[in-house]
Amino acid sequence: MAVGEKPQVDVPKKNGHAGHPRVLDLVSITEAAAIASAHLLGHGDNHKADAAAAEAMRKTMDTVDFAGRIVIGEGERDEAPMLFIGEHVGSGDGAELDIAVDPLEGTNLVAKGRANAISVLAAAERGGLLHAPDTYMDKLVVGAPAKGKVDLDRPVKENLRILADSLNRDVDDLTVIVLDRPRHEKLISDIRAAGARIKLIDDGDVIAAISAVVAGTAVHCVMGIGGAPEGVLAAAALRCVGAEILGRLKFRNDDERRRARAMGIEDEDRVYRTEDLAPGKELRFIATGVTDGDLLQGVRFFSRGSRTHSVILDYENGKIRFIDTTHYDDPKNPPLIRLS
Ligand code: FBP
Repeated sequence: MAVGEKPQVDVPKKNGHAGHPRVLDLVSITEAAAIASAHLLGHGDNHKADAAAAEAMRKTMDTVDFAGRIVIGEGERDEAPMLFIGEHVGSGDGAELDIAVDPLEGTNLVAKGRANAISVLAAAERGGLLHAPDTYMDKLVVGAPAKGKVDLDRPVKENLRILADSLNRDVDDLTVIVLDRPRHEKLISDIRAAGARIKLIDDGDVIAAISAVVAGTAVHCVMGIGGAPEGVLAAAALRCVGAEILGRLKFRNDDERRRARAMGIEDEDRVYRTEDLAPGKELRFIATGVTDGDLLQGVRFFSRGSRTHSVILDYENGKIRFIDTTHYDDPKNPPLIRLS
């Protein structure tokens, strides 16, 4: 190299893409929401817990460099004060991303101090997450071995047989997660008639979907009707681990149908697959535990600090990270750090 010549240096790209937010910055968003809502554990006030999570999430987002647009959030502009669909979030500098959030997935769970509440965010390049209407969705979630084999229109018994074969076990060794709702009476009796076991949950079918596709959680499938936005969030996570969600929108009234049509949804009976719900190439899914759960620990508070447990799934780079963070209330006065 000639004297005075500058060495050629590759400018490092953040996470492989110029301008993309760092995963640790993204996780700080769900961590902030989880901590804010966890303070209200068992207070019996879901709205307050949800509002605390939304506010903390919204505030933290603007400290992170990206130009985000909410595609799944707290509702339409006229019904949600923040994190509404179409709202611009992030500092405005950096990659243009579509963002799906549920600052507090499982508001009742926090209000009652129950397990499996999370704060969740998915991010993708523009167009990488379906703009799903705020209606219900009939869902079937299975792990990678059964992907492409089960079908939402097949009888429950057949899907369970296919799932059992894919996992090399008997149907009576399967456990199916179902939201405990009167609308699932027939589904529950069909699952029981097929011989499978059932885990009824009060709320929270996003973390249920992830648990069902991770080995060692003792659950193998999610069936039944839950929120459509939650279906998109679950799809973002499942796509990162090669698993499958099949979903069909279920409208409660004509107003929901009208809203869906305005979003460009023509075919009411369409079955959406994982790749339709979360088609992005640069997908990331992040969840932080609010209350203790099957996959994540909840927020723990102690003198001068708190501790959070999060999972980050990265489709493009093929990585899953569990992040254990100790947060200092005052950086100059650290809390006692514990190993476990
Ligand atoms: P929140 O985050 O609004 O508390 O929703 C929790 C949840 O249980 C979801 O996980 C699920 O998809 C949906 O509500 C089910 O809706 P419903 O309670 O109306 O049956």
